Order: sequence, then structure tokens, then C-alpha cells
Amino acid sequence: MARIVVVGSINMDLVTQAPRFPRPGETILGERFLTVPGGKGANQAVAASRLGAEVALVGATGADAFGQQLRQGLAAEGIDLTHTVQLDGCASGTASITVAGGENQIIVIPAANARVTPTQVEQAQAMVARADAVLVQMEIPLETVEATLRLGQRLGVAVILNPAPAQRLPAEWVKLARYVTPNQHELAILLGADPAEDFHALMQRAPCPVVLTRGGEGAWYREQGEPLHQHGFKVDVVDSTGAGDTFNAALAVFLHEGLPQAVRKACAAAALSVTKLGAQGGMPTLREVEALLARQAR
Ligand code: RIB
Ligand code: NA
Repeated sequence: MARIVVVGSINMDLVTQAPRFPRPGETILGERFLTVPGGKGANQAVAASRLGAEVALVGATGADAFGQQLRQGLAAEGIDLTHTVQLDGCASGTASITVAGGENQIIVIPAANARVTPTQVEQAQAMVARADAVLVQMEIPLETVEATLRLGQRLGVAVILNPAPAQRLPAEWVKLARYVTPNQHELAILLGADPAEDFHALMQRAPCPVVLTRGGEGAWYREQGEPLHQHGFKVDVVDSTGAGDTFNAALAVFLHEGLPQAVRKACAAAALSVTKLGAQGGMPTLREVEALLARQAR
């Protein structure tokens, strides 16, 4: 059983499904509204747990009703919350999400997530030392992202840096990651490059190995030399929210099987996750991923 530590955000997702996105100043009638758990950190923790890993989450919620619900949901998914704090007088993170035609628009209010500290990461040191991999994203303070990368380096534990939402980071930090897992846009922003630049070239210039996600087209990965391609799996897209989180979780869980196999399973898991509404709705179990791969092999 893989042991995974996730350092990251916990949000309540306020999801509105609509036939299309409204224009600025326009009011339209939507189809459905859902209040469901999300946040990149929590999503990656849940996805890893469903894939059979033993998972701990380092994060923060507010001491509000959302925070209560979010903690309960995570605990029910079997996630260790020893290092997830509940902050008095602080709101929980939220994400206002509009889903239309399988695409989404998201506004995140970090709230409690802006107060996940490097000290919390240090306090989780014993847990990190026992982990097979650590996952970290960028919806928490960047100093906490840095602390996570440095702790992984010091303990010799692989840190997978998912540089989302897109922000620029110093190359010395990126270098500390075992893998960085951007999409094309995030890779350009991360490196301070022109977003129009060819992604193969960017992958080769990155200061650490890159696993680049391309939505339905699968992923490209590179340790050394030329980037290699893993095709995507064809599914009917309902909601792509959380597909990246599912991909990252699977990558971490299956990393011990070697990068090509881990990327293949990550593409399969991400494909299954987009077939249902909500970031965590549709996140597959290990059995579901294996069933998809077996169907494709036939
Ligand atoms: O990656 C998807 C997540 O991004 C959503 O669950 C939302 O909370 C935002 O953080
Ligand atoms: Na989904």
C-alpha cells in the first residue's frame, strides 16, 4: 500500500451547471446547483485514498459549517487529518465553479488555505519521512510550498509539485521536485516563459523532470532526452473539474511501478473522473482504473 502525504487546499465547491457561460452583465437560467467538497489538496488526497493509498493531508479549514462538513467528508474517505487544523474566526476556502459543456470557470477564495504554514509541514516530518511520495499544489502560501519541497529533499522523499493555479516559482525550488506536473499554460507561467512557446522545448528547459497534462490528449513526460507521449482515454466529458487532481494522485500512488506505467494509470484515472459532476464525483477506485485499462487492452 503506497503512503502519500498531501500538502494543500481544502475548499467547498459551489457548483452551478448551465447550458453555457453567461457574458459579463448577463443573467441566464442554469440547470443545477451543488455544494460539494473540493480544493486541490483535498481532491488529491481523496483520489489517492480511493486508489488504495494510505493518505494524510496537511491543510486548514475554518471553524465554520463548511469546515465541519469538509473534515467529516475527508475522514469518511479514510484520510488522516492529524495535521489539518481548524482555524477559529476564519472562513473555509470556497470555489465558485460554473460548468458548461464539460468546461469550467473557477474563482477560488483561499480563506483558511492562506494560513497553511511551513510550521505545519515541519510538524508532519515523521509522516513525510515514512511516505512514498508527497503531493503539493499552489492554492496555499508559496512559502509553505517551498517548505514542503525542502523537507522532501532533506528526507529523500519524492515531492510531486502540481503548479496549479499557475504562478511563477524560482528555478531553485522547482529543481527540488521529483516531478513537476503542469498543463501547458502552467508550465510557461511557472518558468516565466512565453505561453505560446512550444511545450516540448519548455519541457526540455525545465529544471526538473516534467509530466505535462493535455486533457483528452493524455500526457507527455520526460526524465531525460525527448518527451514521450501517453494517449488519453476516450470518455464522455461531464465535468473536467478535478481531473488534474485525480491525475496527480494516481501518479503518486503508482510511481513505484515506473513513470510510464504511472502516467498511463494517471491518464485512465483522470478520464474516469470527468464522467461525473463535481471534482470528487467520478474519482475512481483502483478496480475501476484496472477495468478501464483491461477494456482498452482488448
Ligand atoms: O482542481 C479543482 C479544484 O480547484 C476545485 O475542487 C476547486 O476547489 C479548486 O480549488
Ligand atoms: Na468529476
